[in-house]
Amino acid sequence: MLILGIESSCDETGIAIYDSNKGLLGHTLHSQIKLHSSYGGVVPELASRDHIKYIIPLIDQLLKNNSISINSIDSIAYTAGPGLSGALLVGSTLAEALAYSLNIPSIPVHHLEGHLLAPLLEVEKPSFPFLALLVSGGHTQLIDVKKIGEYNIIGDTLDDAAGEAFDKTAKLLGLSYPGGAALSELAEKGNFEFQLPRPLINSHGLDFSFSGLKTAVLTLVKKQSKLTDEIKANIAFAFQESITDVLIKKTIKGLEETGYKNIVVSGGVGANMKLREKLISRSKLEKFKVYFPKLEFCTDNGAMIALAGYLRAHLSSKNNYKFSVKPRWRLSEI
Ligand code: KG4
Ligand code: ZN
Repeated sequence: MLILGIESSCDETGIAIYDSNKGLLGHTLHSQIKLHSSYGGVVPELASRDHIKYIIPLIDQLLKNNSISINSIDSIAYTAGPGLSGALLVGSTLAEALAYSLNIPSIPVHHLEGHLLAPLLEVEKPSFPFLALLVSGGHTQLIDVKKIGEYNIIGDTLDDAAGEAFDKTAKLLGLSYPGGAALSELAEKGNFEFQLPRPLINSHGLDFSFSGLKTAVLTLVKKQSKLTDEIKANIAFAFQESITDVLIKKTIKGLEETGYKNIVVSGGVGANMKLREKLISRSKLEKFKVYFPKLEFCTDNGAMIALAGYLRAHLSSKNNYKFSVKPRWRLSEI
């Protein structure tokens, strides 16, 4: 079975082809980061237009590079939500129209399920059940994954998502949007100079809250008579230490509560090296296993959507083509 995967929920147009026997055959991506960076965030209408511009050429190119004819595709998986409605509509309209014209099924995929299952693209895969730490620009959740399709959210953010906190802190330090990766690079040059709060680290539940951390960074920035490169790096360092400590403490608490031995980390913040290093060293001490997708599959991509589509192929429909998307869609509702 050959599945074409299409991701267009935000500012990345991602396309992939997944083979049920051979795994991922190829993928391609167009990022809109440059387009939006001068606005300090994603401009929805510009995002939709850019998806329209790139989506068909990217599919054509990927098929050509893999010497696959569009007629060999067996089904088309696409991100149906959550995300920006206009951006989602570009992917869903194309996917549904293409599936209709080829007389093959279409598979609407939940974007977060794509992130969640992305580590299954790797050779060494986690076995079920596992605990997932989903950390992206819009979400920070701890999810009890019993099996494919059975997801129980046991921890969530009360305010800012982890990626959002990275991006807002990066902005305070003068880095351009989205800033998470740049802040992490800056933190590499920093040292222990400042202490920032670790919100809810010792609280009873598994929820997160990062808006206070961002406010603490703002207060610290304002206190500096001169924001030198060294001070900026030290603030980035302190921020990264705080946020990764909180994420790890809650994740390990979630592991204790579920009794699981496997952790999956996914979403854009899963590309953070400090988070990876700290979790790997804790996993050695505390005898659990931690799985990450490849760096390129932490952030939005078509490969995770093609894979999730394959794993959820029983949900596919033929002759039921509809162009509806779900910009707001909780993972627990799928
Ligand atoms: O999963 P993703 O591509 O999009 C969403 O579904 O939200 O995640 C994007 C988020 C952004 O906030 C970005 O700054 C953050 O992931 N991010 C990082 C790193 N790379 C991307 N945050 C921290 N460290 C990184 N290396
Ligand atoms: Zn995402």
